[in-house]
Amino acid sequence: MAIERITDATMHDDDTTEQQIEVTLRPKTFDDYIGQDRLKNNLKLAIDAAKKRGEPVDHVLLYGPPGLGKTTMATVIANEMGTNIRITAGPAIERAGDLASILTNLKDGDILFIDEIHRLGRAVEEVLYSAMEDFKLDIMIGKGPAARSVRLDLPKFTIIGATTRTGALAAPLRDRFGLIHRLEFYTNDEIAKIINRAAKILESKISDSASAMLSTRARLTPRIANRLLKRVRDYADVNGDGIIDEKTAKLALELLEIDELGLDPGDRNLLVSIINNYGINPVGLNTIAALTGDEATTIEDFYEPYLLQIGFIERTPRGRRVTAKAYKHLGKNYQKDESQQILV
Ligand code: ADE
Repeated sequence: MAIERITDATMHDDDTTEQQIEVTLRPKTFDDYIGQDRLKNNLKLAIDAAKKRGEPVDHVLLYGPPGLGKTTMATVIANEMGTNIRITAGPAIERAGDLASILTNLKDGDILFIDEIHRLGRAVEEVLYSAMEDFKLDIMIGKGPAARSVRLDLPKFTIIGATTRTGALAAPLRDRFGLIHRLEFYTNDEIAKIINRAAKILESKISDSASAMLSTRARLTPRIANRLLKRVRDYADVNGDGIIDEKTAKLALELLEIDELGLDPGDRNLLVSIINNYGINPVGLNTIAALTGDEATTIEDFYEPYLLQIGFIERTPRGRRVTAKAYKHLGKNYQKDESQQILV
């Protein structure tokens, strides 16, 4: 059984309740969508211009850490454009033929959302190039000497791609997106608003101090905020009268072992492992992965963005370094550890 961390911002795929609730809570319009103001303004402009010209909106690439609302933003774009959206993911499109069948079934103006677009195979990616550029599909018919290539017209669609890192995307693919935007971490105030909105939809009562407390522990990430809200709501239903106040929230979070900054035992283990083995010296990603037993990409995509954001680790040309701020949070003596540096 895979162990799922409550603070892991990826979608827990085998948790259908989580998926259903996420869909229920998803904002449908720009007005409902809290935060990401710069992105919203850019998208509104592109949408208004496209509508005025009677064309589909340009292809959009959204990147950033998981859980910040890339899929949600894609559904908002579709809703604001008044078009259909088809949602798929890079690993689900195994062959060029799979993509051809998806593309030929789209209608003019439709949006195709491809999550984890950096995980498309090379052959599929190549079909996508001409499809995105001039709405043509180049396919081979037959095999061997009798094989010939045919060019089919495709409807005028929009691709919205999502990825955790643009660096992982092949340059020719990246270049075919007219709009490339990063989703930023939210502020605590925005997260508190998202929690209050979700509580209202779920018909849960939550005090302002409780939502403020949850907001500081949700790693500036809406998906985690909503997940914490649900766990705390369970706790309030079982141990109290269902009302989420500060005391209930605090007890529930203690049970989940989530500290004041939203770090869980996995994050603390990562930081303490680096400190115990390398102190304040820089350490490479693969070494960190070996210390914690995680994949390097897991560290890079899931642990690191938030730890960088709150200034607990920093990137140096020689690797990642744990900062004085992290030492302080973990109750460790920065100076003393510095004098112990003998490794690296
Ligand atoms: N639920 C999840 N993300 C949200 C957001 N950005 N705004 C409103 N509700 C949300």
